[in-house]
Amino acid sequence: MKRAALLSLVALAAACARDDFASPAHGEGSSGLETGSSGAPIDVDEGSTTSGGESSTGPSSDSESSGGPASSSSSGGEELAPWEWDLPENIPAPRVPEDNPMSAEKVELGRHLFYDQRLSANASQSCASCHDQARAFADGLALPTGSTGETVPMNSMALVNVAYNATYTWASPLELTLSDQAALPLFGDQPIELGAHLDEDAIFARLLDDPTYTSLFADAYPDETDPVSWINIRRAIASFERTLISVNSPYDQYTRGDEDAISESAKRGATLFFSEQFECFHCHGGFNFTHSTVHEDTAFTSRPFENNGLYNVAGTGQYPPAGRGLYRFTLDVEDDGKFRAPTLRNIALTAPYMHDGSVETLDEVLDIYAAGGRNVVEGPYAGDGRTHPNKSSFVEGFELTEEDRADFLAFLESLTDEEFITNPAFSDPWK
Ligand code: HEC
Ligand code: HEC
Repeated sequence: MKRAALLSLVALAAACARDDFASPAHGEGSSGLETGSSGAPIDVDEGSTTSGGESSTGPSSDSESSGGPASSSSSGGEELAPWEWDLPENIPAPRVPEDNPMSAEKVELGRHLFYDQRLSANASQSCASCHDQARAFADGLALPTGSTGETVPMNSMALVNVAYNATYTWASPLELTLSDQAALPLFGDQPIELGAHLDEDAIFARLLDDPTYTSLFADAYPDETDPVSWINIRRAIASFERTLISVNSPYDQYTRGDEDAISESAKRGATLFFSEQFECFHCHGGFNFTHSTVHEDTAFTSRPFENNGLYNVAGTGQYPPAGRGLYRFTLDVEDDGKFRAPTLRNIALTAPYMHDGSVETLDEVLDIYAAGGRNVVEGPYAGDGRTHPNKSSFVEGFELTEEDRADFLAFLESLTDEEFITNPAFSDPWK
């Protein structure tokens, strides 16, 4: 397996200082992003400040091992078994940050943490509270509620093939690794999700008290004398999340040669989806059904954000204040309403849709694209999204016959991967 050369580490924005995520009492916890000039290529180190490179420095490193180099800047020399991605031939391996190589031990620790309510200050919520395996790790709600009762203004995202995402969350250009992303639900306070910063001592006391964790942390970070730290928690969760790979839907089986895996209607739907008439594939194309994808062999990482015409409040070119997309990070009016095109894998399981959960069904999604956007006719956000100045030229609208609609839906449903939502390796280990 080839290892992609990592580009040098430069953060997108110097403004992205996340020292507030550090836990002074428990060491490390650095954001992992060095600040630097913007616009340069960005690397994906997780939580350390080493720059990328090919060299493997740990005594046990094996440059031929799959899943990335065996060295680790935080625990060089650890003896962890090489990681094997078990992927079909047509699916590339994910890119793994050099400072957080995969290991079965870290994945197992991360899985326990992902499902553990003790990670929230008031012990009421875990990652899984908003990311439910049966729903492809979405939650079925328009907007979720955090551990202290605050409403989160964004729809909980499905966690499907997140190892391949070029950026994380609906519209941030700043979250480039899963371990950095994990800091948001843990420590974010606008709104509070897990609220870990509200009582870090209690959280660490709970973890240190549990013999299950004593051994899980020791196995995952064998070279460290004091492995229970935020950075190690975030890296382990990231390692678990990287294993959440869905590539065995009926549509996948069809593309791998099983002609009978999907219906004739779904086959026609696929043809529509990938056609210039309907344009979907421009933004939701590729093996992961999103053009915002990186993998082991990606030469140049692009991080696109698109406006698909959902809002245009009072014709001002603005999206509602809680969800202005990329604009929130760049303050450039040309970025208003721009979001990352999400993967459409398992999409039939993850309603309601869009960044604010404002679209209830796939039928409605098709109506919106057919109309070339959404005309919001009443309420505080009334305005015609179809005429949004930032709307992509790929969202121009089209005629949709009833047969086309049925075919589209059959195709989108053929992206549901039953194996993914029932895989015991992704389930709650505490049950
Ligand atoms: C209260 C509900 C809630 C909890 C708890 C929660 N999340 Fe999320 N998650 C969300 C929402 C909402 C988003 C979208 C956030 C945004 O775009 O601003 C999200 C986005 C994500 C993403 C980005 C996915 C992508 O495709 O870009 C990842 C990864 C993720 N969450 C992992 C986690 C992990 C790990 C935890 C636990 C440490 C966690 N979440 C806890 C609601 C939650
Ligand atoms: C110009 C790029 C673009 C094109 C073309 C496009 N989409 Fe999208 N799609 C997006 C973006 C961006 C979002 C998220 C928007 C938001 O949340 O505000 C999205 C969201 C979706 C969602 C909801 C995803 C979720 O997890 O909530 C579905 C379903 C979808 N698109 C299907 C389609 C179909 C079907 C087509 C073709 C008819 C299509 N898209 C064409 C960019 C595009």
